[in-house]
Amino acid sequence: MQKTHNTLWLLYCRPGFEQDCAQEALRQARIQRPVIAEQPDICADSGYATVALNEQSLSYRELIFARQLIRVHRRIEPLSERDRLTPLLAAIAELPDTFGTLWLEVPDTNDGKTLSAFTRRFQPLLEEALRAQGKLQDDTAGAKRHLPRLHVFFPDKSSAMIGSSDPYNSAATIMGIVRQSMPAEAPSRSTLKLAEAIEVFMDKSEQTRLLRQGMTAVDLGAAPGGWTWQMVKRGIRFAAVDNGPIGASMRSST
Ligand SMILES: C[S@@+](CC[C@H](N)C(=O)[O-])C[C@H]1O[C@@H](n2cnc3c(N)ncnc32)[C@H](O)[C@@H]1O
Repeated sequence: MQKTHNTLWLLYCRPGFEQDCAQEALRQARIQRPVIAEQPDICADSGYATVALNEQSLSYRELIFARQLIRVHRRIEPLSERDRLTPLLAAIAELPDTFGTLWLEVPDTNDGKTLSAFTRRFQPLLEEALRAQGKLQDDTAGAKRHLPRLHVFFPDKSSAMIGSSDPYNSAATIMGIVRQSMPAEAPSRSTLKLAEAIEVFMDKSEQTRLLRQGMTAVDLGAAPGGWTWQMVKRGIRFAAVDNGPIGASMRSST
């Protein structure tokens, strides 16, 4: 078990974008002051990157490539597959904070997916033990509403990173992925891209302020109409322009 000295930040990203993700975070940190910490290696196609910074902190909302922003407190490596609970509990017990939520997470890769069954089984066990320790508390009422989230990230089956995120400086979805279900009446799956962009890049007050019923917009290159459908659904009038045909389900609404 190794304590980190600089602040190590864990950033989840789409596999293949690890270098972009790390470089963007370092660029943001450099704007604040020079970065002198030694940078950890980036593992290609791993679905995450870590950056070590001295005093700088990062702003999640300004990062394009990072799906999630987590401050790492402990790394456990190797983590015995026979008993992951004991070392994790011991490491979490040493942290000064109390947490409002526990998220067990894996990389968004094929290897990561093989660990999902384990995290589903393990979640209630760890959660129960942390509640008994008083490390995890209900974060729904009164003064406790802004407790940090606790993340236990398994880069592989025999290591873990324990970290926390600030609910006001991070993604509000597990693994930083907004899960959208495909609306049956939308003309194309691309509708999900715009729905995700709205959720990721705009907070609720911006969504209400900037996407108001009765507004007018234009969609250039709109066919088959997935993006137009998102806007129409929000009561926005649309001029949809394309030299190809718009989807059948959109013709009555455009
Ligand atoms: C990737 S699709 C857009 C998908 C759309 N955003 C949706 O959500 O369904 C790009 C569209 O741009 C249109 N397009 C490209 N060049 C165009 C042009 N010069 N004039 C009009 N439409 C054009 C294509 O016909 C195509 O339908």
